[in-house]
Amino acid sequence: MQHFSSLHKIFEEQFVKTEFPSEPKNLYDACNYFLQLGGKRIRPVCVLMGNELFDDIDPDAFEVANAIELFHNFTLLHDDIMDQAPLRRGMQTVHTKYNEATALLAGDVMLVKAYECLTKIKTEHLKKILFLFNKTAREVCEGQQLDMDFAQKAASGEKMIHVNFDEYLHMITLKTSVLLAASLQMGAMLGGAGLGNQQHIFEFGKKLGIAFQVQDDYLDAFGDPGKFGKQAGGDILANKKTFLLIHALEALPVEGRKQLEDLMDNDDDNKVKKVLQLFNDCKAGEWAQSLKEKYFKEAMTHLENIAVTSVRKNELEALAMYLLQREH
Ligand code: IPE
Ligand code: IPE
Ligand code: MG
Ligand code: MG
Ligand code: MG
Repeated sequence: MQHFSSLHKIFEEQFVKTEFPSEPKNLYDACNYFLQLGGKRIRPVCVLMGNELFDDIDPDAFEVANAIELFHNFTLLHDDIMDQAPLRRGMQTVHTKYNEATALLAGDVMLVKAYECLTKIKTEHLKKILFLFNKTAREVCEGQQLDMDFAQKAASGEKMIHVNFDEYLHMITLKTSVLLAASLQMGAMLGGAGLGNQQHIFEFGKKLGIAFQVQDDYLDAFGDPGKFGKQAGGDILANKKTFLLIHALEALPVEGRKQLEDLMDNDDDNKVKKVLQLFNDCKAGEWAQSLKEKYFKEAMTHLENIAVTSVRKNELEALAMYLLQREH
């Protein structure tokens, strides 16, 4: 089983060959611009790792990995429009550098290209991969809709929309976790894993995905903007329900809670600074770190339950640790 960095290199070398036509220039320039910004390439490497856990890497795994990374980039292009995000991977987002129509279309083209990659896999694999891919893609859309619903400002005179921990967990499971989980499972499928092992690797990815989103929420509020590559406090500005916000609304005393609700419902020039102060007052950052640990441990239990020799699992454990300590 190879380390993340060597699989990352192997993935990257063949992924750059993903070529787009030259015309219309604006559309394909935008596609190339975005894909060349890099990104961590976690999901495609998860496909390769899920495969290698059970067998030598099947050539189909590269097609699936490419499809998954293209799909992920499609979701980011559309997500940045939805979230009105100015920065991604430390650079201008596509809708700000080009325009919204181009960003929408660049995303659409990437989704089509993802399916083109899938058409190249062997017929014996195609049906089951396509089924899981489509199910996951639909769930990501559902998660994104819930995320947008939760972020809506209260209508005038009404209180902000409340979201409890379980509702939040459901939303991030859909918008973030299932793609990570399905990437691992697709790799495992191609490696000939039985259903029990497929389920464990899926659950491992699901718990890891939740921990990954906890870290994403944490970095959005407390990360180093130079390293994180996204707008500092972007979730606060977009009124997102994050782990931090949900915890703060439960943990703050009545007065602090009211201040936080007012900040979420009304515009304030110092919104980010004031909300961060309230997060600090109730130690939301520390709380998020311990929550991350909890999901990491749950992920590890599922990894342990996969019926292959434990030394083969070391690189997946290392990947999990890297994901949770990431600063970008
Ligand atoms: C960003 O995913 C979207 C989330 C689910 C938080 P990544 O942090 O994996 O994005 P890139 O591809 O590395 O930029
Ligand atoms: C994005 O969630 C999930 C998808 C794109 C499907 P976020 O909105 O939290 O991701 P970032 O923080 O913009 O990367
Ligand atoms: Mg976003
Ligand atoms: Mg979003
Ligand atoms: Mg985020």
